[in-house]
Amino acid sequence: EKGGYDYFMLKEIAEQPKAVADTLLGRIDAEGALTLDEVRIPHSVLREADKVVIVACGTAFHAGLIAKYAIEHWTRMPCEVELASEFRYRDPILDPRTLVIAISQSGETMDTLMALRHAREQGAKVLAICNTNGSTIPRESDAVLYTHAGPEVAVASTKAFLTQLVACYLVALYLGQLRGTKWGDEIRAVIRDLSRIAGEVERVLETMEPVRALARTLADKRTVLFLGRHVGYPVALEGALKLKELAYMHAEGFAAGELKHGPIALIEEDLPVVVVVPSPRGRSVLHGKIVSNIQEIRARGARTIVIAEEGDEAVVPYADHLVRIPATPTLLQPLVATVPLQVFACELATARGNEVDQPRNLAKSVTVE
Ligand code: BG6
Repeated sequence: EKGGYDYFMLKEIAEQPKAVADTLLGRIDAEGALTLDEVRIPHSVLREADKVVIVACGTAFHAGLIAKYAIEHWTRMPCEVELASEFRYRDPILDPRTLVIAISQSGETMDTLMALRHAREQGAKVLAICNTNGSTIPRESDAVLYTHAGPEVAVASTKAFLTQLVACYLVALYLGQLRGTKWGDEIRAVIRDLSRIAGEVERVLETMEPVRALARTLADKRTVLFLGRHVGYPVALEGALKLKELAYMHAEGFAAGELKHGPIALIEEDLPVVVVVPSPRGRSVLHGKIVSNIQEIRARGARTIVIAEEGDEAVVPYADHLVRIPATPTLLQPLVATVPLQVFACELATARGNEVDQPRNLAKSVTVE
């Protein structure tokens, strides 16, 4: 049941701190190391794998795009991310040393299932990240890491996405731990930060009223653009997807560095542009570049909606609307930066009179290719 909320989606957004905490539960030991015993792929296989390939659809694909940054950084293994529907049709290069990760909330998405079948036929090992116990994708995989989001009813994914991110970070950190990289200390520190992250998601949820108020003022807009860099780029794609799915608006996510190579031509007076700003502490070079992007779009009259870390003062002069998120390690930022975008899309959809839980033309799980 909706537990007092008007929509399942609102309830599921609110459940995110618990979903995140539940997905971490029992997976970090007393010494602060990861114990993913359920990943029943022999350690020798995980140590000797030379490539990771992630396949997924929709929101799960965006989780995969973020996972790539984490996996390549913490494991130094090359990682490709591909839309499951494209994967097997291009004769992908797979062998027994390829670790394939199939991400799916429902565990029943046909495109993802066909991609993993193809991968296994080539001898690759498949690890599923899935939210539905006993569904087809985990049954057909070599191993599964379940997300513990609980049942997700709203068609547009929210809490399942955050738990997919947590599961992806766990896999990346686990592979890093197992294979031993120069990032040992950082991995231990990030595991500590992850164990506190549910509280940060809760803090974001407590400050969402201005985001809702802003969304209501944009109900008559036709287009919203989203910009981000590094892991903020897939967050921008996810923000745009949510707006398409729920508000039926034209929304596009771009890598902020691409702005000058094309999308800047779209910038016009009063166009809402949401910018996800990386931490000024972590990749500080990127932070400076994105602040320049915000200046450029504002100089062309766009309405800037800036999502930035608490204490980031450099963005203040260029933000028409400023949404604060807690400081996190760079790679974990999507866990807090996505939440305002979910709330934004949900409120805009409501303001436009749309059916939030059951958007037109969409299904929760698509079991045809
Ligand atoms: C789509 C849903 O059809 O499938 C999306 O509408 C979802 O919300 C996508 O992200 C993938 O679904 P799943 O269950 O494989 O994660």
